Amino acid sequence: MIEAPVDVTYNPCMDIHTTRVNARGEDYRVVQLQGNLFVCAKQNGSCCCGWDEKGRMSFDHALWGDEWERRRLRSRLHLTFTGCLGPCIAGNNALLQVLGQSIWLKDLNDAALVPAVFDYVESMLAAGQVMPVPAVLQDHVYRRYLPPPTDELLALVENESDDGGLERLDPVCLMDVDPATAKHTVEYGGRVIAFCAPSCRKQFLADPAAYLPS
Ligand code: FES
Repeated sequence: MIEAPVDVTYNPCMDIHTTRVNARGEDYRVVQLQGNLFVCAKQNGSCCCGWDEKGRMSFDHALWGDEWERRRLRSRLHLTFTGCLGPCIAGNNALLQVLGQSIWLKDLNDAALVPAVFDYVESMLAAGQVMPVPAVLQDHVYRRYLPPPTDELLALVENESDDGGLERLDPVCLMDVDPATAKHTVEYGGRVIAFCAPSCRKQFLADPAAYLPS
């Protein structure tokens, strides 16, 4: 395992952790997550995940995306639609990286398995640890990676400090937005909140407490 940078700032208002990263000479805020769900969306009509002529369920972005949005997992678990993950023969495939562990999911060819995957994710996020695979997913989980040769952590950075900067986060999509130059803003709770796009501003105004609960 690789040790994460230590310059974490906690924002109780949004209930998120962020870290400062420097890219292209500027500092940005990046939200620290508990995991990422990668879902193969390779479907191209002839191979492989989503190939319904070969008995696989047609790929449906909304099936995964709507479930992820409905559960408001963005600040804890990122959802990524990917190209081929590799083990095409076992598709439809997904890879769940959560709480430091990689969990490979295969043969996801029943729409009912999608909420089951998210139920499993949420149970682990709530418990703060990797949990046993539930019965409904027992036949869909396997170990693909070789175990690491050592449990020792590799430190990535040293002596890194953090100076906050949480006011830069779009509370809907969690992108770093510079409030000084943001084109889409709203006053809420005594401060100006900046958004990356009109769609995020609109989504926030529809239910501000969902994004800034305190
Ligand atoms: S096409 Fe999905 S894993 Fe290869």
